[in-house]
Amino acid sequence: MFVASSRGGLRGLSRSRSMCICVVLALVLAQLLTGPDVYNWRSWGSRGFFSGSGSAQSGSSGFSYKHAVAYQAKDRTDGVYAGTQLDSPTGEDNYFVGMRSPHDVFAGVADGVGGWAEHGFDSSAISRELCAAIQDFSTLGKILSPKQLIDLAYAKVKNDGEVQVGGTTAIVAHFPPNGTMKVANLGDSWCGVFRGTKLVFQTKFQTVGFNAPYQLAIIPPQMLKEAAKRGGSYIQNKPSDADEYQFQLQKNDIILLATDGVTDNIATGDMELFLSNNANEVDLQKVSQKFVDQVVKLSKDTNFPSVFAQEMSRLSGKRYTGGKEDDITVVVVKVE
Ligand SMILES: *[C@@H]1O[C@H](CO)[C@@H](O)[C@H](O)[C@H]1NC(C)=O
Repeated sequence: MFVASSRGGLRGLSRSRSMCICVVLALVLAQLLTGPDVYNWRSWGSRGFFSGSGSAQSGSSGFSYKHAVAYQAKDRTDGVYAGTQLDSPTGEDNYFVGMRSPHDVFAGVADGVGGWAEHGFDSSAISRELCAAIQDFSTLGKILSPKQLIDLAYAKVKNDGEVQVGGTTAIVAHFPPNGTMKVANLGDSWCGVFRGTKLVFQTKFQTVGFNAPYQLAIIPPQMLKEAAKRGGSYIQNKPSDADEYQFQLQKNDIILLATDGVTDNIATGDMELFLSNNANEVDLQKVSQKFVDQVVKLSKDTNFPSVFAQEMSRLSGKRYTGGKEDDITVVVVKVE
């Protein structure tokens, strides 16, 4: 089970990063001290040195990736959703996995922003269409960066005219053969890398305010006009607002791509705890589903000091407690 803890991941992150740098420096130093021994290079294997690629890696398909997907939509039988129908097993969340090969995989999640449902719109449409388009663009044609994929896919969704109205976050990761992961994030979905159950990389949330993430939106001109008349506006970001990251993966790293249904409930320390408690489970699908099941359980626990409740307490000065019920979606990738 989880133990409640505050978001303590960042300090651990910088510590393990500087440790990485130390190890690399030590290796470089050792290499300099022992001198450039060309015969040693050859023993690394017949590939690489004479390939002209300039890469010390043995073969271009060094890494491969396994993945699993797990989700649970929140209960929509009451509140603003009562009487509306959301024909989507993932709720307003959506995900995609685009496999060019087991060595070259794209994956991501998108979280359709609620609020449109009460106006009778299918609020899951924009995240679904965006994910479908990103998946297509990620597997067809030449390899594009995660940010380029978001850009192209958003343009396509706008063009297709299938989505009437909506807003969505998006996070897209590329897992290439050489293990240099690239991520583009727009909004408050999240990507974290765990190494030996410790968090070694994470993306930052992009928000314009509490519970108001950056989002890609489609809003008819008429609605924009009406909002302006009332002195309001909608959050509308451009794909170019996405943050980009690059991170070198290692074998056995676990990457979690998650919507805020996860991160509004549990802190990164809880994720580390979950991973170490389940370190012996080899079935990635099973462990991913178990993870989601546990987050769902906590999200319904009125006594659980969720990340969201703690943030509300901090902002309001009043004491809030309880989980945050939401759609919960994860794509879990394991490096092999
Ligand atoms: C992997 O390839 C990408 C470009 O495809 C490059 O930017 C990156 O530096 C490479 N990583 C390593 C470790 O060689």
